Amino acid sequence: MIAQGHDTRATPGTPDCFVVAIDGPAGAGKSTVARRVAVELGFGYVDSGALYRAAALAALQADLDIDDESGIAKRISEARIALSADSRSVRIDDIEVSAAIRTPEVSQAASQVSALPAVRAALIDLQRRAAVAPGIVADGRDIGTVIFPNASLKVFLDADPAERAKRRTDELVGTGKAADLADVRREMDERDSRDRNREVAPLRAADDAIIVDSTAMGIDEVVGLIVNEFRVRIPT
Ligand code: CDP
Repeated sequence: MIAQGHDTRATPGTPDCFVVAIDGPAGAGKSTVARRVAVELGFGYVDSGALYRAAALAALQADLDIDDESGIAKRISEARIALSADSRSVRIDDIEVSAAIRTPEVSQAASQVSALPAVRAALIDLQRRAAVAPGIVADGRDIGTVIFPNASLKVFLDADPAERAKRRTDELVGTGKAADLADVRREMDERDSRDRNREVAPLRAADDAIIVDSTAMGIDEVVGLIVNEFRVRIPT
């Protein structure tokens, strides 16, 4: 596995590599917010969900059973999964898959394979090696609890489930896909429940995370709050 374009010398969590960790359930707005915060701070953006999605797609393409833990972990370690520094490009074996990993089928498969301990273990290094100076914003489910426990700032971004389902439906429709609110809500609830209740790295807020409920907040407001929290902690 390689992390394309990433300097592997930086030490995560040290002052020359700041980490802003944004965790939370599906549809809370993590990736939109994380991407914007990264631009404001001049940092890279690490979409850890894209790695789990790529792992799931690699398993589906290889016709592996979705609960074949060792088979999927082996496939991940052989596949060259690569994320660009802004996470816009995701590649498996040099083939661009950034659109292919966004289907509902891959979302469900990602949530299933990500509950397997060997799969999580196989993706840890890739995430940590993506931490390069001056810093990164990384989003996912266990960024603040497992991947970067010494992050400079940890945020748990949440929102009401009905609002999250609405946002995800609007997002899908906005990209030209057919999406039904009730289906999206069902799929999201299923995934969240699996992510919260799994034994390894369950979705939860780190003890030292700030909890942000974005139900009634706009993107600008959430981005402003996080950038401000970061600057208060790390004055420039
Ligand atoms: O964007 P959305 O919140 O729908 O999902 P995502 O962040 O792309 O993640 C897809 C799935 O990967 C999640 O439902 C989780 O099961 C899994 N995931 C994880 O287990 N740990 C992470 N750090 C990121 C994603």
